[in-house]
Amino acid sequence: ATTLGASAAEKGRYFGTAVAAFKLSDSQYVTILNREFNSVTAENEMKWDATEPSQGRFSYTNADRIVNHARANGMSIRGHALLWHAQQPAWAQNMSGSALRSAAINHVTQVASYYRGKIHSWDVVNEAFADGTSGGRRDSNLQRTGNDWIEAAFRAARAADPNAKLCYNDYNTDGVNAKSTGIYNMVRDFKARGVPIDCVGFQSHLTNSVPSDYQANLQRFADLGVDVQITELDIAGSNQAAVYGTVTRACLAVPRCTGITVWGIRDSDSWRTGQNPLLFDANGNKKPAYTAVLDALNSG
Ligand code: G3I
Repeated sequence: ATTLGASAAEKGRYFGTAVAAFKLSDSQYVTILNREFNSVTAENEMKWDATEPSQGRFSYTNADRIVNHARANGMSIRGHALLWHAQQPAWAQNMSGSALRSAAINHVTQVASYYRGKIHSWDVVNEAFADGTSGGRRDSNLQRTGNDWIEAAFRAARAADPNAKLCYNDYNTDGVNAKSTGIYNMVRDFKARGVPIDCVGFQSHLTNSVPSDYQANLQRFADLGVDVQITELDIAGSNQAAVYGTVTRACLAVPRCTGITVWGIRDSDSWRTGQNPLLFDANGNKKPAYTAVLDALNSG
């Protein structure tokens, strides 16, 4: 096929992008979005600070703009993210202990219930593992409520939206390393104990190269009985097009890799200011990286 979404669909996958609600009035942006992508992730609008700016008062206006655009145009929706140490509202940042635990689980329940049936996959918990060699959890206010906070969040999400795929999502997990192995061990434990988890997201914020065991790392998670998704792909550096091709082929080679999301449309939309890590330039033109992805989706 001739677009990212249609080509991915021919391989049984989705091809998505992060979307910012305020850009839905930019006609160039929307033209590319509607032409190329069949899945969207709200870049910021479903995060805790956006959806519950004061405790117990929920705000879905901007998230709904993205959800409504997606549904009107036949796109599926990744939910991002129910719980994260970052982008918490100020009121939650100042909480701890059982009060924070209750507030966090209530947040999961409320947001997942509001969007019940509309989200194909939820990032239930984002970035809860530490960087470096420990393989352990990141310290955060949520982690300090007890090590079982992640499984409590997944159980609450399952109860609220039984048909959504429930994902754990993180970065610097792109090869077999201490951090990805820590997550691997958590997923294995969850599967063994019946904690509901369906997928693992690999953000894949990359520069110039991808670990040689990227595909093998996706596969080892798939072998635990979960789907894997590439959730926030962007690639800086002069080797960008080749690496985009490698990442795309790795997903296609893993049957349980169900889709790829890039973290923005044009380079000017990227959070990585000045790094030009996306598939379209600031004028909306297709870059060599775009062609590398499209060719990879259409090969074989
Ligand atoms: O909402 C305020 C707005 O009121 C204010 O006028 C403006 C002024 O700078 O800031 C706005 O908030 C910004 C927000 O994006 C919405 O645009 C924040 O400053 C800014 O820090 C925030 O950045 C987002 C970042 O997550 C926050 O951690 C990026 O857009 C977003 O791309 C990025 O995405 C994350 C994923 O969620 C998780 N994985 C890593 C990825 C990259 O950091």
